[in-house]
Amino acid sequence: MNDAQRHLPDDYAIRLMRDGDRPEISAICASVYPTERPYTDEELSAHHALFPEGQFVVEHLPSGAVAGAHFTLMVNMLHFHVDDSWETLTAGGTFADHDPSGHTLYGADLFVHPSHQHHGLGRALTEATRGLVRDKGLWRMVGGSRMPGYGRLAQAVDPDEYITRVKRAELTDPVLTAHLHDGWDAIIAIRGYLPHDEESAGWAAVIQWLNPGSPPPPDFDLSRVPKRG
Ligand SMILES: CC(C)(COP(=O)(O)OP(=O)(O)OC[C@H]1O[C@@H](n2cnc3c(N)ncnc32)[C@H](O)[C@@H]1OP(=O)(O)O)[C@@H](O)C(=O)NCCC(=O)NCCS
Repeated sequence: MNDAQRHLPDDYAIRLMRDGDRPEISAICASVYPTERPYTDEELSAHHALFPEGQFVVEHLPSGAVAGAHFTLMVNMLHFHVDDSWETLTAGGTFADHDPSGHTLYGADLFVHPSHQHHGLGRALTEATRGLVRDKGLWRMVGGSRMPGYGRLAQAVDPDEYITRVKRAELTDPVLTAHLHDGWDAIIAIRGYLPHDEESAGWAAVIQWLNPGSPPPPDFDLSRVPKRG
């Protein structure tokens, strides 16, 4: 986590999730995802029990408050479709599908409390998970990026065209642009990843970061993972 810490201002520290963090995490989720049900205490406890080393938190040191988090699990992408929903990829939010033999780290969630955004916390939390991918020799990290700037353009712009324009920096998206700046590539638009995400008109971008030290063999390229059909 030392590399990740470098991206943080001095009054923040990155560490793994602890039991006492859970109420604050649920409160941040309620604030940043007003249309989603926040994680329950039981879910966060289960994530920790299944894969403690994949649950990262940034703490604001002066207040001791949780300022952001990044939750991951390991998956075998060939057991999924490239356009599966968040519900499917997280086994209904339980992370019960965590597969220690999988070669892909799935970024199930990344969020920063609104009063701590734009200080590099998202970047540090992303760097921490990349460190895990490198340490474990995994092929890649995959996630689904919200695109909350898309909703207001959905009548006029095709979602894949929107992603292309955000990648070209012709448009700025509050979430997808942050992911692109943090080194992810956006692969394809998918519908229904977070069906209640009205700001994104129900769309999301599949995002990927390949581990340069251990990239996937061609047969396991994300482009070979089928769609739901
Ligand atoms: C997306 C999110 C995690 C980013 O966290 P953050 O701590 O504010 O991001 P950082 O400060 O580390 O910024 C990382 C990069 O993204 C850019 N960025 C961050 N917010 C941005 C915005 N609203 N618009 C454009 N670019 C933005 C930053 O400029 C930075 O790039 P740079 O270093 O090249 O300048 C945060 O906005 C968030 O929690 N959003 C609500 C929850 C959510 O939707 N999570 C994503 C689920 S897919």
